[in-house]
Amino acid sequence: MSPASTYDALKLPAHVKTVLITGAGGFVGQKLAQLLLDLFPSIKVITTDIVQPPSLSDDPKRFKAVKADLGDSAQVEGLFHGEVIGGVFALHGIMSGGCEANFELGYKVNVDSHLVLLRATHAHSQKTDQRPVYVFVSSLAVYGGPKCTPTSYVVPKDTPVLAGSSYGVEKQIMELYVYDYGRKGYLDTRAVRLPTVAIRSGAPSTAASSFISGLIREPLQNQPSICPIASSLSDPILDEMPVYVSRTRTVVRNIAYAMCMPENQFKKGESRSINLPGIKVTPRQIIDALIEHGGKEKLDLVEFKKDPAVIAICQTWAGDYDSSDAQAMGFQVDDTTSGFSDAVKDFKDELAAAK
Ligand SMILES: NC(=O)c1ccc[n+]([C@@H]2O[C@H](COP(=O)([O-])OP(=O)(O)OC[C@H]3O[C@@H](n4cnc5c(N)ncnc54)[C@H](O)[C@@H]3O)[C@@H](O)[C@H]2O)c1
Repeated sequence: MSPASTYDALKLPAHVKTVLITGAGGFVGQKLAQLLLDLFPSIKVITTDIVQPPSLSDDPKRFKAVKADLGDSAQVEGLFHGEVIGGVFALHGIMSGGCEANFELGYKVNVDSHLVLLRATHAHSQKTDQRPVYVFVSSLAVYGGPKCTPTSYVVPKDTPVLAGSSYGVEKQIMELYVYDYGRKGYLDTRAVRLPTVAIRSGAPSTAASSFISGLIREPLQNQPSICPIASSLSDPILDEMPVYVSRTRTVVRNIAYAMCMPENQFKKGESRSINLPGIKVTPRQIIDALIEHGGKEKLDLVEFKKDPAVIAICQTWAGDYDSSDAQAMGFQVDDTTSGFSDAVKDFKDELAAAK
């Protein structure tokens, strides 16, 4: 997948001249905002987060960063004042571990504030005579139940959506709202279910999957890291509990593509939720990639210490998914053999560039 072909299909609909990204102080949102600014020189990107999002441009015609609590409807409405927003990427949220630890907060942010944003976008569309494209960023954590274990291969049409965590249920609830705003024709909605994104740069998240990036990110920066799913390097769980991941640049490209994809890709009455493609990786392969890119001595920085809470959540995730529908729609997939190693290489390049 050459960089050029990766981005060739990314053409925003003509009416999308200003794009709002929520959760843009976070890991994926920052990268998405930068990609949109790089790819589309004539659009304006508005970023927002409860923490001040980073400034990515000094040109007010191209960029605005707004600190706002999206749980507050006045602050959400304020984001639309004086703007004609043609596209929304709804990314803000509390991650899986955070939602299990704080039930109220998870629902408040992942459902209540997203509903406020959805309604405000609809109200904005009525005022501006626009029908914004609304991309809701969901998660494969919407799957759970008996058909979802680390050894499962999930075929979407045969697998009911039944989350095994509050986070997954919250995403599932919002997917239904988003679907209905699309069905009614109020907004041009799409929901993309992300695999675990690797390698996450910056600080660890409260996601139960955080260790997947942590096994690489911290040791490559000479920091200690905990492997919460195994008691030692010889623990068989390292081979038995695969995870489904996608390289950061692939995920960010695919989220951007979700706004570019023609609406007629969805058949009438069918779901507007798309399982983004990923690749199956065992924790052992993650450790192998650490050794490949950092050397064997980096293993000394990894402490094997089982955390039953993390294992319990990971056991509700399927290790592999059929993503042929998404690929047929134009979403891209990593190389099944080198994909994880490529992700580690990207992260190393990012570290080198930051120096
Ligand atoms: N990173 C992954 O592996 C992964 C996997 C599946 C799905 N997702 C989804 O992708 C999206 C982005 O993930 P991420 O890894 O960038 O997460 P992140 O935690 O880095 O970013 C989320 C952002 O949401 C913001 N936020 C939280 N509450 C808010 C509020 N009330 N008002 C405004 N902003 C608020 C946070 O400050 C944070 O910056 C999320 O919706 C997440 O559920 C991520």
